[in-house]
Amino acid sequence: MVSKDFKKISLGIAGINKLLGGGIPENSVVLVSGGAGCGKTTFLCQYINEGLKRGETCLFVSLEESKEQIKQDAIQFGWDFDKYEKKDKLYLKQYNPFEVSSNIGLNSFERYIEYIKAKRVVIDPITLFAEFITNEGVDDKRGEYAIRRGIFNVISILKKLNVTAVLSGEIIEGSKYKLSKYGEEEFVVDGVIVLTTMDGVGKRTLCIKKMRSIKHDFTPKNFKITDKGIVVETE
Ligand SMILES: Nc1ncnc2c1ncn2[C@@H]1O[C@H](COP(=O)(O)OP(=O)(O)O)[C@@H](O)[C@H]1O
Ligand SMILES: [Mg+2]
Repeated sequence: MVSKDFKKISLGIAGINKLLGGGIPENSVVLVSGGAGCGKTTFLCQYINEGLKRGETCLFVSLEESKEQIKQDAIQFGWDFDKYEKKDKLYLKQYNPFEVSSNIGLNSFERYIEYIKAKRVVIDPITLFAEFITNEGVDDKRGEYAIRRGIFNVISILKKLNVTAVLSGEIIEGSKYKLSKYGEEEFVVDGVIVLTTMDGVGKRTLCIKKMRSIKHDFTPKNFKITDKGIVVETE
């Protein structure tokens, strides 16, 4: 049903919720982009922790860090992922992007999300997951095309399912794409949040570049990573 009012999903980060009037649209797919160490994995953990606190079933797909590392990252902020994993509320999946034999297909990924009845999904990062799913290298034009198609297909599936997803993405310095690695991600998602670190001055900023259906502030906001996670300074 189309209506002027729609449900928003809390990110668990008070300052960004405020900027968005409550959170991201339910059933949307949002990209959190930035370079290494910008806080992408922390953002995703905080989003998952918020879902767990609300009793929602969550899926965390990790391509770079092991399950144990993710749990270790989270507990530093006081978020006990292990407890929720044991209660079957959190599903942590780690895939090795370079191990082709362990490849899963898109169909089984879709069926898995339906089977566990996930409400929140995060993929860290979407680019490596697409490379993993499509089983192609990036070193030629055909490979890059396959990965762009993979990114498109993964995001299309997430949009079709009854989930609200936050994906991390890399920004490559000097690349022609300003908000993501392949360009595909930033256009097909419903929202883009860019994180930066300012070298030398120890400052972190966050900027909402796009958010479907929401009127929002475009100016970069400073944020800190504290022992309670990401804290945005909104005046
Ligand atoms: N428990 C913590 N307390 C404060 N800062 C932290 C903590 N954990 C990580 N950080 C900061 O966050 C950075 C890494 O964040 P992360 O979310 O892993 O970034 P990304 O996924 O973008 O590479 C670290 O380099 C560190 O500066
Ligand atoms: Mg990371």
